[in-house]
Amino acid sequence: MKKLTILLLVAIFYGCKTPSSQKSVDEIDKKVDSLLSIMTLQEKIGQMNQYNGFWNVTGPAPNEGDAAKKYEHLKNGWVGSMLNVRGVKEVKEVQKIAVEQSRLGIPLIIGFDVIHGYETQSPIPLAEAASWDLNAIKKSAKMAAKEAAAAGINWTFAPMVDISRDARWGRVMEGAGEDPYLGSVIAKARVEGFQGEDLSNPLTIAACAKHFAGYGFAEAGKDYNTVDVGTSTLQNIIFPPFKAAIESDVKTFMNAFNELNGIPATGNTYLQRKVLKSEWNFNGFVVSDWGSIMEMTYHGYAANIQNAAEIAVNAGSDMDMESYAYVNHLYDLVQEGKVLETDINDAVKRILRVKFELGLFDNPYLYCDETREKEILGSKEIQDAALDMAKKSIVLLKNEGNMLPLAKNGQKIALIGALAADKNSPLGSWRIAAKDNSAVSVLEGMQQYKGNSLTYTKGADVYNGDTNFIFEVNINTSDTSGFSEAATAAKNADVVLMVLGEVGYQSGEGRSRTSLDLPGVQQKLLETVYQANKNVVLVLNNGRPLAINWAQENIPAIVEAWQLGSQTGNAVAQVLYGDYNPSGKLPMTFPKHVGQVPLYYNYKNTGRPGPKKEVFWAHYQDIDNEPLYPFGYGLSYTTFSYSNLKINSVANNKVSVSVSVTNTGKVAGKEVVQLYLQDVVASVTRPVKELKAFEMVSLKPNETKTITFTLTDKALGFYDNNGVFKVESGLFKVFVGGDSKNTMNTEFSLP
Ligand code: BGC
Repeated sequence: MKKLTILLLVAIFYGCKTPSSQKSVDEIDKKVDSLLSIMTLQEKIGQMNQYNGFWNVTGPAPNEGDAAKKYEHLKNGWVGSMLNVRGVKEVKEVQKIAVEQSRLGIPLIIGFDVIHGYETQSPIPLAEAASWDLNAIKKSAKMAAKEAAAAGINWTFAPMVDISRDARWGRVMEGAGEDPYLGSVIAKARVEGFQGEDLSNPLTIAACAKHFAGYGFAEAGKDYNTVDVGTSTLQNIIFPPFKAAIESDVKTFMNAFNELNGIPATGNTYLQRKVLKSEWNFNGFVVSDWGSIMEMTYHGYAANIQNAAEIAVNAGSDMDMESYAYVNHLYDLVQEGKVLETDINDAVKRILRVKFELGLFDNPYLYCDETREKEILGSKEIQDAALDMAKKSIVLLKNEGNMLPLAKNGQKIALIGALAADKNSPLGSWRIAAKDNSAVSVLEGMQQYKGNSLTYTKGADVYNGDTNFIFEVNINTSDTSGFSEAATAAKNADVVLMVLGEVGYQSGEGRSRTSLDLPGVQQKLLETVYQANKNVVLVLNNGRPLAINWAQENIPAIVEAWQLGSQTGNAVAQVLYGDYNPSGKLPMTFPKHVGQVPLYYNYKNTGRPGPKKEVFWAHYQDIDNEPLYPFGYGLSYTTFSYSNLKINSVANNKVSVSVSVTNTGKVAGKEVVQLYLQDVVASVTRPVKELKAFEMVSLKPNETKTITFTLTDKALGFYDNNGVFKVESGLFKVFVGGDSKNTMNTEFSLP
């Protein structure tokens, strides 16, 4: 076909706008089919190929090596998507090549890890999860989408919905914690936030539920490690947030680096074809993780890269991220009959559909408006949302003698800890598009309150040299030369504020730890300062639960401040001074010791529960089974009491439960009222309790509100070992309270 005729045809196909009704879904499918019918096999395969950004668009086009090859592929229409190309100028440049130089001019979808913000960073996802505030989380994703979309991006590799029970795993920072119910409602909030109501709006982007599946269950918390889990855990713990993402119409999925029960996720037909595309009816596309098709050769599952391509595509992986497997081998595999062209067609349709929905066929430069980029990036609206989210993410862990909030006047405050002045670390781990040193530090936040005198000394470095995304952090394990200055500052102060914990790059991908202690010399620094002045407030910065027993036993006030993003210092100062009353609750159990891990609230009773006098029960001899802080835990500057827990009715698998909550303190506050269930006897053993509902209530002092929860099938049932969802009759225990341990209890029976 002559190029002119093709362009004409393509223009007709692309012609109409992209509305969002069912009719439009059918219209899009028609357009996709028409386009597919004029594509060559190699062009189809091109749509399934994704490359990382490979040249500086302001320089000359590459003419040698890999970059030249990729450039050629782009011009040939053999690239369907690019990642890590960002900023309107760059995106426009690559899009122009795809649209103007390739035969069919199919626009690229531009992917990026918009994980907790784009240029403006919001709190790390685990911190956001601690807010339990679904509206705020949705808004945070919406703002991240807006900023990223304004910079040319139209697809994020988020949310990560992997459940994990292992604080050693560095990527717990990127998820919503250990619970499948909380994980599911947060998955929904994030997908809806990123995608909005109309994907073709240039301020929304396609989301990606990742990593399908089991990635958070890496053995020993070591990233990329083997995953071996049974059906019950897979169905009831790992799958639910992925399902919730589909119910929210998530457009894409990413598979995972890990093997699951002997089959790499990327080559896993059960996961991708049977569960995802068939049982769950997912009609978006699946992208591989970075190089994960090629990595099947290392897993010992594919003989070579060609074989890996065959396995991946046959298993339902639609797009190849940076393995060069599809672009180089799929053509031959189809010729040899090892891969069916109908399967290629299916993958391409899925990809094209998302491009249509994004509005890219109406206008390939829809996300490329320089004026919009200037207006939106770092705007007040986005910064304000990041601050709001940061305050909501803070968890008050201890507040003996109401040491907090701090008095605003006449106090001498010593601020200690290198992290207090760090403007990079609070940006977290996924901050590729953030400006270096752009976070408001705790020091800067505290300086805004002028009524007290503030002296700062770092005490000790947390790390030596620099930190970055690629290499290990070099932790300071020996230099204590600043300790005496810190002790003197503490002695001369009324209150000591210590900011300690992990730097941003100690959690995230490839950043597992075997210890959950304060890294380096920080524990020693804490103890040294405490000897000088016991009035210590400890502000923790961390991307995972930490085992801070000594602090819990000795330090009067502890605030969990995670890595809170661009507005960190403002959020921390407002909480410490009581201008914001914290309401965060832990989305992951904090252990007393790393040896207890995996430690999670929804464990099984075992045949040997305890405690017992003799040794023959499920326990350790050197530490009890309790967490340091349980799942769902968090204090406030006020107190709440619970009363009147009642089962109102049980009818047709619909149970109504109500409880009254009273603010018994002196200031207004918010409480996350949590409801847990135990299905006492079941055909597959059930956990001792499972979160099934929660509600956030705002209460003035002395105010009481009654909350009513309605539990339906979804809350009452579970998946059996054949993947069948069941609600079984019998006794159910109900636990309601402000965390997973401290609850009122009642029960009901299902007939
Ligand atoms: C990560 C993904 C990420 C991808 C692209 C991989 O290493 O596992 O979560 O989206 O890189 O940057």
